[in-house]
Amino acid sequence: MEDLIHKTARLIADSRHVVALTGAGISVESGIPPFRGPGGLWEKFDPMEVGHIQSFMRDPEKVWRLLISEMRDVLMAAKPNPAHLGLARLEEMGILKTVITQNVDGLHQTAGSRDVVEFHGNFAWLRCLDCGGRVRTVEVDLSQMPPRCDCGGIFRPECVFFGEMIPPLDLDRAQIAASSCDVMLVVGCSAVVQPAAYMPVIARQSGAVVIEINPEPTPLTGRTSAFLIQGKAGPTVEKIVAGVTRIIADKRR
Ligand code: APR
Ligand code: ZN
Repeated sequence: MEDLIHKTARLIADSRHVVALTGAGISVESGIPPFRGPGGLWEKFDPMEVGHIQSFMRDPEKVWRLLISEMRDVLMAAKPNPAHLGLARLEEMGILKTVITQNVDGLHQTAGSRDVVEFHGNFAWLRCLDCGGRVRTVEVDLSQMPPRCDCGGIFRPECVFFGEMIPPLDLDRAQIAASSCDVMLVVGCSAVVQPAAYMPVIARQSGAVVIEINPEPTPLTGRTSAFLIQGKAGPTVEKIVAGVTRIIADKRR
Protein backbone atom coordinates (compact mmCIF):
# COMPACT_ATOMS: atom_id res chain seq x y z
CA MET A 1 0.00 0.00 0.00
CA GLU A 2 2.84 2.43 0.81
CA ASP A 3 4.12 1.79 -2.72
CA LEU A 4 0.78 2.78 -4.23
CA ILE A 5 0.63 5.88 -2.05
CA HIS A 6 4.06 6.88 -3.27
CA LYS A 7 3.14 6.14 -6.88
CA THR A 8 0.01 8.29 -6.52
CA ALA A 9 1.99 11.16 -4.98
CA ARG A 10 4.38 11.04 -7.91
CA LEU A 11 1.56 11.00 -10.50
CA ILE A 12 -0.07 13.98 -8.80
CA ALA A 13 3.19 15.92 -8.52
CA ASP A 14 3.75 15.40 -12.27
CA SER A 15 0.14 16.21 -13.17
CA ARG A 16 -1.16 19.51 -14.42
CA HIS A 17 -4.83 18.85 -13.81
CA VAL A 18 -6.11 16.64 -11.02
CA VAL A 19 -9.83 16.17 -10.41
CA ALA A 20 -11.39 14.34 -7.45
CA LEU A 21 -14.70 12.52 -7.38
CA THR A 22 -15.90 11.95 -3.82
CA GLY A 23 -18.73 9.96 -2.28
CA ALA A 24 -20.16 9.28 1.14
CA GLY A 25 -17.02 7.36 2.17
CA ILE A 26 -14.94 10.53 2.40
CA SER A 27 -17.20 11.84 5.15
CA VAL A 28 -17.43 8.62 7.19
CA GLU A 29 -14.47 9.71 9.32
CA SER A 30 -16.33 12.97 9.96
CA GLY A 31 -19.07 10.95 11.64
CA ILE A 32 -21.54 10.86 8.74
CA PRO A 33 -22.80 7.34 8.00
CA PRO A 34 -22.59 6.21 4.35
CA PHE A 35 -25.63 5.04 2.40
CA ARG A 36 -24.50 1.50 1.61
CA GLY A 37 -22.32 -1.00 3.47
CA PRO A 38 -21.96 -1.61 7.19
CA GLY A 39 -23.70 1.03 9.32
CA GLY A 40 -25.13 2.58 6.17
CA LEU A 41 -28.35 4.60 6.18
CA TRP A 42 -29.95 2.28 3.67
CA GLU A 43 -29.69 -0.59 6.20
CA LYS A 44 -32.28 1.30 8.23
CA PHE A 45 -34.40 2.68 5.41
CA ASP A 46 -35.41 1.62 1.96
CA PRO A 47 -33.96 4.30 -0.33
CA MET A 48 -36.89 4.15 -2.69
CA GLU A 49 -39.16 4.59 0.27
CA VAL A 50 -37.62 7.66 1.87
CA GLY A 51 -35.15 8.95 -0.70
CA HIS A 52 -37.51 9.20 -3.64
CA ILE A 53 -39.05 12.50 -4.69
CA GLN A 54 -42.45 10.85 -5.07
CA SER A 55 -42.36 9.67 -1.44
CA PHE A 56 -41.51 13.18 -0.38
CA MET A 57 -44.33 14.71 -2.39
CA ARG A 58 -46.78 12.09 -1.14
CA ASP A 59 -45.86 12.30 2.53
CA PRO A 60 -43.39 15.11 3.30
CA GLU A 61 -43.98 14.81 7.02
CA LYS A 62 -42.84 11.19 7.03
CA VAL A 63 -39.68 11.89 5.03
CA TRP A 64 -38.89 14.87 7.24
CA ARG A 65 -39.29 12.76 10.39
CA LEU A 66 -37.48 9.65 9.18
CA LEU A 67 -34.64 11.11 7.22
CA ILE A 68 -34.21 14.83 7.07
CA SER A 69 -34.33 15.80 10.74
CA GLU A 70 -31.82 13.09 11.64
CA MET A 71 -29.55 14.09 8.76
CA ARG A 72 -29.71 17.67 9.91
CA ASP A 73 -28.39 16.84 13.36
CA VAL A 74 -25.62 14.62 11.99
CA LEU A 75 -24.54 17.09 9.28
CA MET A 76 -24.59 20.10 11.56
CA ALA A 77 -22.18 18.40 13.97
CA ALA A 78 -19.76 17.19 11.27
CA LYS A 79 -16.35 18.74 10.64
CA PRO A 80 -13.98 18.17 7.71
CA ASN A 81 -11.44 15.36 8.19
CA PRO A 82 -7.87 15.05 6.81
CA ALA A 83 -9.22 13.79 3.46
CA HIS A 84 -11.28 16.95 2.84
CA LEU A 85 -8.41 19.10 4.09
CA GLY A 86 -5.89 17.27 1.90
CA LEU A 87 -7.93 17.84 -1.27
CA ALA A 88 -8.31 21.53 -0.37
CA ARG A 89 -4.53 21.71 0.11
CA LEU A 90 -3.95 20.21 -3.37
CA GLU A 91 -6.22 22.87 -4.84
CA GLU A 92 -4.31 25.57 -2.97
CA MET A 93 -1.08 24.17 -4.45
CA GLY A 94 -2.62 24.72 -7.90
CA ILE A 95 -2.64 21.02 -8.81
CA LEU A 96 -6.20 19.94 -8.14
CA LYS A 97 -8.73 21.94 -10.14
CA THR A 98 -12.16 20.57 -9.27
CA VAL A 99 -13.88 18.36 -6.71
CA ILE A 100 -16.99 16.61 -7.99
CA THR A 101 -18.92 15.36 -4.99
CA GLN A 102 -22.05 13.32 -4.47
CA ASN A 103 -22.20 14.52 -0.89
CA VAL A 104 -24.61 17.14 0.37
CA ASP A 105 -22.69 17.89 3.59
CA GLY A 106 -20.72 20.91 2.32
CA LEU A 107 -17.55 19.64 4.04
CA HIS A 108 -15.33 20.24 1.01
CA GLN A 109 -16.14 23.95 1.09
CA THR A 110 -15.72 24.08 4.86
CA ALA A 111 -12.29 22.51 4.36
CA GLY A 112 -11.39 25.29 1.91
CA SER A 113 -12.07 23.75 -1.51
CA ARG A 114 -13.34 26.40 -3.90
CA ASP A 115 -14.20 24.67 -7.16
CA VAL A 116 -16.76 22.10 -5.98
CA VAL A 117 -19.47 20.56 -8.15
CA GLU A 118 -22.24 19.33 -5.87
CA PHE A 119 -23.83 16.68 -8.00
CA HIS A 120 -26.60 15.93 -5.54
CA GLY A 121 -27.11 19.45 -4.26
CA ASN A 122 -26.52 20.68 -0.75
CA PHE A 123 -28.26 20.25 2.53
CA ALA A 124 -27.41 23.69 3.86
CA TRP A 125 -30.49 25.32 2.33
CA LEU A 126 -34.19 24.53 2.14
CA ARG A 127 -36.54 25.77 -0.56
CA CYS A 128 -40.27 26.40 -0.35
CA LEU A 129 -42.26 24.19 -2.72
CA ASP A 130 -44.76 27.01 -3.33
CA CYS A 131 -42.95 30.37 -3.52
CA GLY A 132 -39.35 29.16 -3.97
CA GLY A 133 -38.22 31.16 -0.92
CA ARG A 134 -35.04 29.83 0.70
CA VAL A 135 -33.98 29.42 4.30
CA ARG A 136 -30.88 28.00 5.97
CA THR A 137 -31.47 24.45 7.19
CA VAL A 138 -29.95 25.29 10.60
CA GLU A 139 -32.42 28.09 11.07
CA VAL A 140 -35.66 26.33 10.26
CA ASP A 141 -38.20 25.72 13.01
CA LEU A 142 -38.72 22.00 13.41
CA SER A 143 -41.43 22.26 16.03
CA GLN A 144 -43.94 21.85 13.22
CA MET A 145 -43.53 18.94 10.82
CA PRO A 146 -43.02 19.32 7.96
CA PRO A 147 -41.50 22.79 8.43
CA ARG A 148 -43.31 25.49 6.47
CA CYS A 149 -42.47 28.80 4.84
CA ASP A 150 -44.22 32.05 5.86
CA CYS A 151 -46.39 31.60 2.74
CA GLY A 152 -47.64 28.25 4.07
CA GLY A 153 -45.68 26.15 1.56
CA ILE A 154 -43.65 23.13 2.62
CA PHE A 155 -39.85 23.32 2.73
CA ARG A 156 -37.72 20.76 0.93
CA PRO A 157 -33.93 20.40 1.07
CA GLU A 158 -31.98 21.60 -1.98
CA CYS A 159 -30.74 18.07 -2.58
CA VAL A 160 -31.36 15.82 -5.53
CA PHE A 161 -33.76 13.05 -4.54
CA PHE A 162 -33.97 9.71 -6.32
CA GLY A 163 -36.19 10.27 -9.34
CA GLU A 164 -34.88 13.80 -9.90
CA MET A 165 -32.47 15.08 -12.51
CA ILE A 166 -28.95 16.26 -11.76
CA PRO A 167 -29.06 20.03 -12.45
CA PRO A 168 -27.82 20.26 -16.08
CA LEU A 169 -25.24 22.92 -15.26
CA ASP A 170 -23.64 20.69 -12.61
CA LEU A 171 -23.65 17.72 -14.96
CA ASP A 172 -21.95 19.86 -17.62
CA ARG A 173 -19.29 21.13 -15.25
CA ALA A 174 -18.59 17.61 -14.00
CA GLN A 175 -18.26 16.20 -17.51
CA ILE A 176 -15.91 18.99 -18.52
CA ALA A 177 -13.79 18.42 -15.41
CA ALA A 178 -13.73 14.65 -15.96
CA SER A 179 -12.69 14.97 -19.58
CA SER A 180 -9.95 17.53 -18.94
CA CYS A 181 -8.04 15.92 -16.07
CA ASP A 182 -4.92 13.79 -16.34
CA VAL A 183 -5.37 12.22 -12.90
CA MET A 184 -8.71 11.48 -11.24
CA LEU A 185 -8.88 10.52 -7.57
CA VAL A 186 -12.05 8.61 -6.69
CA VAL A 187 -12.43 8.76 -2.92
CA GLY A 188 -15.05 6.89 -0.86
CA CYS A 189 -17.37 6.37 -3.78
CA SER A 190 -19.21 3.07 -4.27
CA ALA A 191 -19.61 3.87 -8.00
CA VAL A 192 -23.05 2.29 -8.28
CA VAL A 193 -25.19 5.42 -8.64
CA GLN A 194 -25.33 7.05 -12.07
CA PRO A 195 -24.41 9.42 -13.57
CA ALA A 196 -21.70 10.11 -10.98
CA ALA A 197 -20.22 6.64 -11.47
CA TYR A 198 -19.74 7.47 -15.14
CA MET A 199 -17.36 10.38 -14.50
CA PRO A 200 -14.32 8.10 -13.95
CA VAL A 201 -15.18 6.32 -17.22
CA ILE A 202 -15.12 9.68 -19.04
CA ALA A 203 -11.80 10.50 -17.37
CA ARG A 204 -10.30 7.18 -18.39
CA GLN A 205 -11.55 7.50 -21.96
CA SER A 206 -9.97 10.96 -22.11
CA GLY A 207 -6.61 9.49 -21.16
CA ALA A 208 -6.53 10.16 -17.40
CA VAL A 209 -5.15 7.79 -14.77
CA VAL A 210 -8.01 6.92 -12.41
CA ILE A 211 -7.00 6.07 -8.84
CA GLU A 212 -9.41 4.78 -6.21
CA ILE A 213 -9.15 5.23 -2.46
CA ASN A 214 -11.63 2.96 -0.72
CA PRO A 215 -11.50 0.17 1.90
CA GLU A 216 -13.47 -2.01 -0.56
CA PRO A 217 -13.22 -2.74 -4.27
CA THR A 218 -15.94 -1.20 -6.49
CA PRO A 219 -17.25 -1.83 -10.01
CA LEU A 220 -14.47 0.52 -11.22
CA THR A 221 -11.73 -1.61 -9.70
CA GLY A 222 -9.67 -3.54 -12.20
CA ARG A 223 -11.50 -1.96 -15.16
CA THR A 224 -11.71 1.78 -15.08
CA SER A 225 -9.24 2.50 -12.32
CA ALA A 226 -5.52 1.89 -12.75
CA PHE A 227 -5.36 0.75 -9.14
CA LEU A 228 -7.14 0.81 -5.79
CA ILE A 229 -5.47 2.03 -2.62
CA GLN A 230 -7.37 -0.11 -0.18
CA GLY A 231 -7.67 2.06 2.90
CA LYS A 232 -9.53 4.82 4.68
CA ALA A 233 -9.83 8.24 3.09
CA GLY A 234 -8.35 10.40 5.89
CA PRO A 235 -4.96 8.76 6.53
CA THR A 236 -4.51 7.82 2.85
CA VAL A 237 -5.11 11.30 1.42
CA GLU A 238 -2.99 12.80 4.19
CA LYS A 239 -0.02 10.59 3.26
CA ILE A 240 -0.47 11.29 -0.46
CA VAL A 241 -0.48 15.06 0.09
CA ALA A 242 2.59 14.82 2.32
CA GLY A 243 4.29 12.85 -0.46
CA VAL A 244 3.32 15.42 -3.12
CA THR A 245 4.63 18.25 -0.93
CA ARG A 246 7.96 16.45 -0.48
CA ILE A 247 8.37 15.66 -4.17
CA ILE A 248 7.63 19.24 -5.20
CA ALA A 249 10.04 20.64 -2.59
CA ASP A 250 12.76 18.26 -3.91
CA LYS A 251 12.11 19.37 -7.50
CA ARG A 252 12.64 22.99 -6.52
CA ARG A 253 16.01 22.32 -4.92
N1 APR B 1 -12.84 5.99 3.59
C1 APR B 1 -13.07 5.83 2.26
N2 APR B 1 -14.11 5.15 1.78
C2 APR B 1 -14.97 4.61 2.66
C3 APR B 1 -14.80 4.72 4.04
C4 APR B 1 -13.67 5.46 4.51
N3 APR B 1 -13.41 5.64 5.82
N4 APR B 1 -15.82 4.06 4.65
C5 APR B 1 -16.58 3.55 3.68
N5 APR B 1 -16.08 3.86 2.46
C6 APR B 1 -16.58 3.53 1.12
C7 APR B 1 -17.41 2.28 1.02
O1 APR B 1 -16.58 1.14 0.82
C8 APR B 1 -18.28 2.57 -0.19
O2 APR B 1 -17.66 2.18 -1.40
O3 APR B 1 -17.44 4.57 0.73
C9 APR B 1 -18.40 4.09 -0.17
C10 APR B 1 -19.76 4.60 0.29
O4 APR B 1 -20.71 4.19 -0.64
P1 APR B 1 -22.18 4.81 -0.72
O5 APR B 1 -22.74 4.84 0.63
O6 APR B 1 -22.89 4.08 -1.79
O7 APR B 1 -21.89 6.31 -1.12
P2 APR B 1 -21.89 7.01 -2.52
O8 APR B 1 -21.03 6.29 -3.51
O9 APR B 1 -21.56 8.42 -2.27
O10 APR B 1 -23.40 6.87 -2.93
C11 APR B 1 -23.84 7.53 -4.06
O11 APR B 1 -26.14 7.12 -3.54
O12 APR B 1 -27.94 7.00 -2.13
C12 APR B 1 -27.28 7.75 -3.05
O13 APR B 1 -27.51 10.04 -3.33
C13 APR B 1 -26.86 9.10 -2.52
O14 APR B 1 -24.93 10.41 -3.15
C14 APR B 1 -25.36 9.14 -2.77
C15 APR B 1 -25.20 8.11 -3.87
ZN1 ZN C 1 -43.11 29.97 0.47
